[in-house]
Amino acid sequence: MTLEGRDLLSLGDWTSDEVTLVIERAKIQKRMWMQSSNRPRPLADRAVAIIMLKPSMRTRVSFEVAVSQLGGTPIVLGADSAFSRNESVRDTVKVLERYCDCIVLRTFDQSHVEEVAQHASVPVINALTDDYHPCQVLADLLTIEEHFGVLKGLKLAYVGDGNNMANTLLLGGAQVGMDVTIACPPGFEPLKGALDRAQQIAAGTGSALEVERDPREAVAGADIVVTDTWASMGQEAEHDVRVAQFSGYRVDAALMALAKPGGIFMHCLPAHRGEEVTDEVIDSGQSVVYEEAGNRMRAQKALLSLIMG
Ligand code: CP
Ligand code: NVA
Repeated sequence: MTLEGRDLLSLGDWTSDEVTLVIERAKIQKRMWMQSSNRPRPLADRAVAIIMLKPSMRTRVSFEVAVSQLGGTPIVLGADSAFSRNESVRDTVKVLERYCDCIVLRTFDQSHVEEVAQHASVPVINALTDDYHPCQVLADLLTIEEHFGVLKGLKLAYVGDGNNMANTLLLGGAQVGMDVTIACPPGFEPLKGALDRAQQIAAGTGSALEVERDPREAVAGADIVVTDTWASMGQEAEHDVRVAQFSGYRVDAALMALAKPGGIFMHCLPAHRGEEVTDEVIDSGQSVVYEEAGNRMRAQKALLSLIMG
Protein backbone atom coordinates (compact mmCIF):
# COMPACT_ATOMS: atom_id res chain seq x y z
CA MET A 1 0.00 0.00 0.00
CA THR A 2 1.31 3.46 -0.82
CA LEU A 3 -0.01 6.92 -0.04
CA GLU A 4 2.53 8.64 -2.28
CA GLY A 5 1.04 11.65 -4.06
CA ARG A 6 -2.29 11.45 -2.19
CA ASP A 7 -4.30 14.40 -0.88
CA LEU A 8 -5.80 14.41 2.60
CA LEU A 9 -8.98 16.49 2.33
CA SER A 10 -11.25 14.37 4.57
CA LEU A 11 -10.75 11.10 6.46
CA GLY A 12 -13.84 9.88 4.57
CA ASP A 13 -11.82 9.85 1.33
CA TRP A 14 -9.38 7.23 2.60
CA THR A 15 -9.69 3.54 3.42
CA SER A 16 -9.43 2.11 6.93
CA ASP A 17 -6.06 0.57 6.03
CA GLU A 18 -4.73 3.92 4.84
CA VAL A 19 -5.77 5.70 8.04
CA THR A 20 -4.24 2.90 10.12
CA LEU A 21 -1.01 3.11 8.11
CA VAL A 22 -0.48 6.73 9.14
CA ILE A 23 -1.05 5.91 12.82
CA GLU A 24 1.28 2.90 12.69
CA ARG A 25 3.96 4.91 10.85
CA ALA A 26 3.67 7.68 13.44
CA LYS A 27 4.25 5.21 16.27
CA ILE A 28 7.36 3.78 14.58
CA GLN A 29 8.77 7.19 13.65
CA LYS A 30 8.17 8.53 17.17
CA ARG A 31 10.07 5.59 18.67
CA MET A 32 12.92 5.93 16.14
CA TRP A 33 13.21 9.67 16.70
CA MET A 34 13.42 9.25 20.48
CA GLN A 35 15.82 6.31 20.48
CA SER A 36 18.16 6.86 17.58
CA SER A 37 20.59 9.43 16.28
CA ASN A 38 19.83 8.11 12.78
CA ARG A 39 16.92 10.37 11.93
CA PRO A 40 15.78 10.02 8.30
CA ARG A 41 15.18 13.23 6.36
CA PRO A 42 12.83 12.21 3.53
CA LEU A 43 11.92 15.83 2.73
CA ALA A 44 15.50 16.98 2.03
CA ASP A 45 15.48 19.65 -0.72
CA ARG A 46 11.70 19.83 -0.67
CA ALA A 47 9.43 22.65 0.42
CA VAL A 48 5.94 22.66 1.93
CA ALA A 49 3.61 25.65 1.66
CA ILE A 50 1.60 26.08 4.87
CA ILE A 51 -1.25 28.49 4.13
CA MET A 52 -3.25 29.74 7.09
CA LEU A 53 -6.37 31.75 6.23
CA LYS A 54 -7.68 31.35 9.81
CA PRO A 55 -5.76 31.74 13.09
CA SER A 56 -3.62 28.79 14.21
CA MET A 57 -1.00 28.01 16.83
CA ARG A 58 -0.72 24.20 17.11
CA THR A 59 -1.25 23.35 13.44
CA ARG A 60 1.12 26.02 12.19
CA VAL A 61 3.95 25.26 14.62
CA SER A 62 3.57 21.47 14.43
CA PHE A 63 3.67 21.50 10.62
CA GLU A 64 6.64 23.94 10.53
CA VAL A 65 8.66 21.85 12.96
CA ALA A 66 7.60 18.56 11.32
CA VAL A 67 8.74 19.71 7.87
CA SER A 68 12.04 21.05 9.29
CA GLN A 69 12.76 17.85 11.26
CA LEU A 70 12.14 15.81 8.10
CA GLY A 71 14.77 17.91 6.31
CA GLY A 72 12.40 20.09 4.29
CA THR A 73 11.67 23.82 4.16
CA PRO A 74 8.35 25.07 5.54
CA ILE A 75 6.97 28.24 3.94
CA VAL A 76 4.18 29.81 6.00
CA LEU A 77 1.77 32.08 4.12
CA GLY A 78 -1.20 34.08 5.37
CA ALA A 79 -4.14 35.86 3.76
CA ASP A 80 -1.86 38.78 2.90
CA SER A 81 0.00 36.63 0.36
CA ALA A 82 -1.75 33.42 -0.76
CA PHE A 83 -5.08 34.02 -2.54
CA SER A 84 -4.61 37.77 -2.03
CA ARG A 85 -5.37 40.56 -4.50
CA ASN A 86 -8.22 38.58 -6.06
CA GLU A 87 -5.79 36.06 -7.58
CA SER A 88 -7.69 32.99 -8.77
CA VAL A 89 -7.32 29.65 -7.03
CA ARG A 90 -5.96 28.11 -10.23
CA ASP A 91 -3.32 30.82 -10.80
CA THR A 92 -2.25 30.66 -7.15
CA VAL A 93 -1.88 26.87 -7.19
CA LYS A 94 -0.14 26.68 -10.58
CA VAL A 95 2.51 29.12 -9.33
CA LEU A 96 2.86 27.66 -5.85
CA GLU A 97 3.36 24.09 -7.12
CA ARG A 98 6.42 25.28 -9.03
CA TYR A 99 8.11 26.20 -5.74
CA CYS A 100 6.58 23.75 -3.26
CA ASP A 101 6.15 19.97 -3.16
CA CYS A 102 3.05 19.93 -0.94
CA ILE A 103 0.34 22.43 0.02
CA VAL A 104 -1.11 22.51 3.54
CA LEU A 105 -4.19 24.74 3.72
CA ARG A 106 -6.39 26.01 6.57
CA THR A 107 -9.42 27.78 5.16
CA PHE A 108 -13.17 28.27 5.54
CA ASP A 109 -15.06 26.30 2.88
CA GLN A 110 -14.30 22.64 2.26
CA SER A 111 -14.86 23.45 -1.44
CA HIS A 112 -11.81 25.75 -1.32
CA VAL A 113 -9.42 22.99 -0.27
CA GLU A 114 -11.08 20.69 -2.84
CA GLU A 115 -10.58 23.27 -5.60
CA VAL A 116 -6.92 23.68 -4.63
CA ALA A 117 -6.47 19.89 -4.81
CA GLN A 118 -8.20 19.76 -8.18
CA HIS A 119 -5.65 22.17 -9.68
CA ALA A 120 -2.56 20.98 -7.78
CA SER A 121 -0.11 18.41 -9.13
CA VAL A 122 1.38 18.16 -5.60
CA PRO A 123 -0.39 16.65 -2.55
CA VAL A 124 -2.80 18.91 -0.65
CA ILE A 125 -3.49 18.55 3.08
CA ASN A 126 -6.56 19.99 4.81
CA ALA A 127 -5.30 21.79 7.92
CA LEU A 128 -8.91 22.57 9.04
CA THR A 129 -11.97 23.82 7.24
CA ASP A 130 -15.43 24.70 8.56
CA ASP A 131 -16.36 21.03 7.93
CA TYR A 132 -13.33 18.85 8.76
CA HIS A 133 -10.06 18.70 10.73
CA PRO A 134 -8.42 15.43 9.60
CA CYS A 135 -4.89 16.17 10.90
CA GLN A 136 -6.27 16.70 14.40
CA VAL A 137 -8.16 13.42 14.36
CA LEU A 138 -5.10 11.48 13.12
CA ALA A 139 -3.27 12.84 16.18
CA ASP A 140 -6.25 11.99 18.39
CA LEU A 141 -6.32 8.39 17.14
CA LEU A 142 -2.57 8.09 17.71
CA THR A 143 -3.02 9.39 21.28
CA ILE A 144 -5.88 6.99 21.99
CA GLU A 145 -3.92 4.05 20.56
CA GLU A 146 -0.89 4.92 22.68
CA HIS A 147 -3.06 5.15 25.79
CA PHE A 148 -5.22 2.03 25.41
CA GLY A 149 -3.01 -0.07 23.08
CA VAL A 150 -6.04 -0.59 20.82
CA LEU A 151 -8.64 1.42 18.90
CA LYS A 152 -11.26 -1.07 17.70
CA GLY A 153 -14.14 -1.53 20.12
CA LEU A 154 -13.46 1.58 22.24
CA LYS A 155 -16.34 3.94 22.95
CA LEU A 156 -15.86 7.65 22.27
CA ALA A 157 -18.38 10.29 23.40
CA TYR A 158 -18.18 13.79 21.92
CA VAL A 159 -20.18 16.41 23.82
CA GLY A 160 -21.07 19.83 22.38
CA ASP A 161 -21.23 21.43 18.96
CA GLY A 162 -21.59 19.14 15.91
CA ASN A 163 -18.74 21.02 14.24
CA ASN A 164 -15.63 20.15 12.16
CA MET A 165 -14.25 18.07 15.05
CA ALA A 166 -17.49 16.12 15.53
CA ASN A 167 -17.73 15.44 11.77
CA THR A 168 -14.13 14.24 11.64
CA LEU A 169 -14.34 12.11 14.79
CA LEU A 170 -17.32 10.28 13.27
CA LEU A 171 -15.26 9.51 10.15
CA GLY A 172 -12.00 8.70 11.96
CA GLY A 173 -13.75 6.62 14.61
CA ALA A 174 -15.64 4.65 11.94
CA GLN A 175 -12.39 4.04 10.03
CA VAL A 176 -10.76 2.34 13.04
CA GLY A 177 -13.82 0.51 14.39
CA MET A 178 -14.53 2.70 17.43
CA ASP A 179 -18.07 3.46 18.60
CA VAL A 180 -18.76 7.21 18.42
CA THR A 181 -21.69 9.04 20.02
CA ILE A 182 -22.19 12.77 19.47
CA ALA A 183 -24.30 14.54 22.12
CA CYS A 184 -25.46 17.95 20.89
CA PRO A 185 -28.44 20.31 21.28
CA PRO A 186 -31.10 20.36 18.52
CA GLY A 187 -29.91 22.38 15.53
CA PHE A 188 -26.21 21.67 16.19
CA GLU A 189 -25.95 18.18 14.71
CA PRO A 190 -22.92 17.06 12.69
CA LEU A 191 -23.16 17.33 8.89
CA LYS A 192 -25.53 14.81 7.33
CA GLY A 193 -22.96 14.05 4.62
CA ALA A 194 -20.30 13.27 7.26
CA LEU A 195 -22.66 11.03 9.23
CA ASP A 196 -23.83 9.21 6.09
CA ARG A 197 -20.25 8.61 4.91
CA ALA A 198 -19.23 7.49 8.42
CA GLN A 199 -22.17 5.04 8.49
CA GLN A 200 -20.99 3.55 5.16
CA ILE A 201 -17.49 3.08 6.58
CA ALA A 202 -18.89 1.72 9.86
CA ALA A 203 -20.77 -0.97 7.95
CA GLY A 204 -17.38 -2.42 7.07
CA THR A 205 -15.57 -1.88 10.38
CA GLY A 206 -18.32 -2.68 12.90
CA SER A 207 -18.48 0.77 14.55
CA ALA A 208 -21.73 1.94 16.12
CA LEU A 209 -22.42 5.64 15.46
CA GLU A 210 -25.11 7.71 17.15
CA VAL A 211 -26.30 11.29 17.53
CA GLU A 212 -27.96 11.86 20.89
CA ARG A 213 -29.41 14.77 22.90
CA ASP A 214 -28.42 13.70 26.41
CA PRO A 215 -24.72 14.16 27.28
CA ARG A 216 -25.12 11.81 30.25
CA GLU A 217 -26.38 9.00 28.03
CA ALA A 218 -23.51 9.59 25.61
CA VAL A 219 -20.77 9.63 28.27
CA ALA A 220 -22.07 6.65 30.28
CA GLY A 221 -19.47 3.90 29.94
CA ALA A 222 -17.29 5.86 27.49
CA ASP A 223 -13.54 5.24 27.26
CA ILE A 224 -12.90 8.65 25.74
CA VAL A 225 -14.78 11.91 26.36
CA VAL A 226 -14.13 14.74 23.90
CA THR A 227 -15.37 18.30 23.61
CA ASP A 228 -14.51 21.40 21.59
CA THR A 229 -15.30 25.08 21.57
CA TRP A 230 -18.96 26.08 21.35
CA ALA A 231 -18.12 28.88 18.87
CA SER A 232 -15.65 27.89 16.18
CA MET A 233 -13.50 30.29 14.16
CA GLY A 234 -15.85 32.41 12.06
CA GLN A 235 -18.69 32.14 14.64
CA GLU A 236 -17.29 34.65 17.13
CA ALA A 237 -20.32 36.96 16.79
CA GLU A 238 -22.60 34.09 17.94
CA HIS A 239 -20.51 33.38 21.04
CA ASP A 240 -22.85 34.71 23.74
CA VAL A 241 -25.97 33.13 22.22
CA ARG A 242 -24.17 29.81 21.82
CA VAL A 243 -22.96 29.81 25.45
CA ALA A 244 -26.62 29.91 26.51
CA GLN A 245 -27.65 27.23 23.99
CA PHE A 246 -24.88 24.83 25.07
CA SER A 247 -25.12 25.35 28.84
CA GLY A 248 -26.19 21.74 29.50
CA TYR A 249 -23.25 20.39 27.49
CA ARG A 250 -20.30 21.43 29.67
CA VAL A 251 -17.88 18.60 30.49
CA ASP A 252 -17.57 18.87 34.27
CA ALA A 253 -16.47 16.39 36.93
CA ALA A 254 -20.03 15.06 37.42
CA LEU A 255 -20.36 14.25 33.71
CA MET A 256 -16.83 12.82 33.51
CA ALA A 257 -17.62 10.53 36.47
CA LEU A 258 -20.09 8.66 34.23
CA ALA A 259 -17.27 7.56 31.89
CA LYS A 260 -15.51 4.22 32.44
CA PRO A 261 -12.98 4.13 35.28
CA GLY A 262 -9.73 4.80 33.41
CA GLY A 263 -11.57 6.90 30.82
CA ILE A 264 -9.69 9.84 29.32
CA PHE A 265 -10.60 13.44 28.43
CA MET A 266 -9.54 15.00 25.10
CA HIS A 267 -9.84 18.46 23.53
CA CYS A 268 -8.13 19.67 20.33
CA LEU A 269 -7.49 23.07 22.00
CA PRO A 270 -7.72 26.01 22.27
CA ALA A 271 -10.04 25.35 25.24
CA HIS A 272 -12.45 27.87 26.70
CA ARG A 273 -12.12 26.95 30.34
CA GLY A 274 -15.39 27.33 32.23
CA GLU A 275 -17.40 27.06 29.00
CA GLU A 276 -17.18 23.63 27.27
CA VAL A 277 -14.91 22.19 29.99
CA THR A 278 -14.15 22.97 33.62
CA ASP A 279 -10.61 23.47 34.96
CA GLU A 280 -11.20 20.48 37.20
CA VAL A 281 -11.60 18.15 34.20
CA ILE A 282 -8.99 19.58 31.82
CA ASP A 283 -6.38 19.72 34.60
CA SER A 284 -7.24 16.27 35.98
CA GLY A 285 -5.21 13.08 35.70
CA GLN A 286 -7.75 11.85 33.12
CA SER A 287 -6.92 14.68 30.71
CA VAL A 288 -4.48 13.88 27.88
CA VAL A 289 -4.81 17.23 26.09
CA TYR A 290 -1.08 18.05 26.05
CA GLU A 291 -0.07 14.57 24.78
CA GLU A 292 -2.78 15.02 22.16
CA ALA A 293 -1.35 18.39 21.07
CA GLY A 294 2.18 16.95 21.01
CA ASN A 295 1.03 14.14 18.77
CA ARG A 296 -0.06 16.65 16.12
CA MET A 297 3.57 16.82 15.07
CA ARG A 298 4.07 13.03 15.22
CA ALA A 299 1.02 12.28 13.10
CA GLN A 300 1.88 15.00 10.58
CA LYS A 301 5.47 13.78 10.22
CA ALA A 302 4.11 10.34 9.34
CA LEU A 303 1.54 11.83 6.98
CA LEU A 304 4.12 14.00 5.17
CA SER A 305 6.62 11.12 4.90
CA LEU A 306 3.97 8.84 3.40
CA ILE A 307 2.33 11.21 0.94
CA MET A 308 5.59 12.85 -0.14
CA GLY A 309 7.20 9.49 -0.75
N1 CP B 1 -6.09 22.20 17.48
C1 CP B 1 -5.71 23.08 16.56
O1 CP B 1 -5.88 22.88 15.34
O2 CP B 1 -5.10 24.19 17.06
P1 CP B 1 -4.75 25.53 16.26
O3 CP B 1 -6.06 26.13 15.83
O4 CP B 1 -4.02 26.39 17.24
O5 CP B 1 -3.92 25.18 15.07
N1 NVA C 1 -13.86 23.76 16.02
C1 NVA C 1 -12.71 24.62 16.20
C2 NVA C 1 -11.44 23.83 16.14
C3 NVA C 1 -10.20 24.64 16.41
C4 NVA C 1 -8.94 23.84 16.29
C5 NVA C 1 -12.72 25.70 15.15
O1 NVA C 1 -12.97 25.40 13.97
O2 NVA C 1 -12.47 26.86 15.50
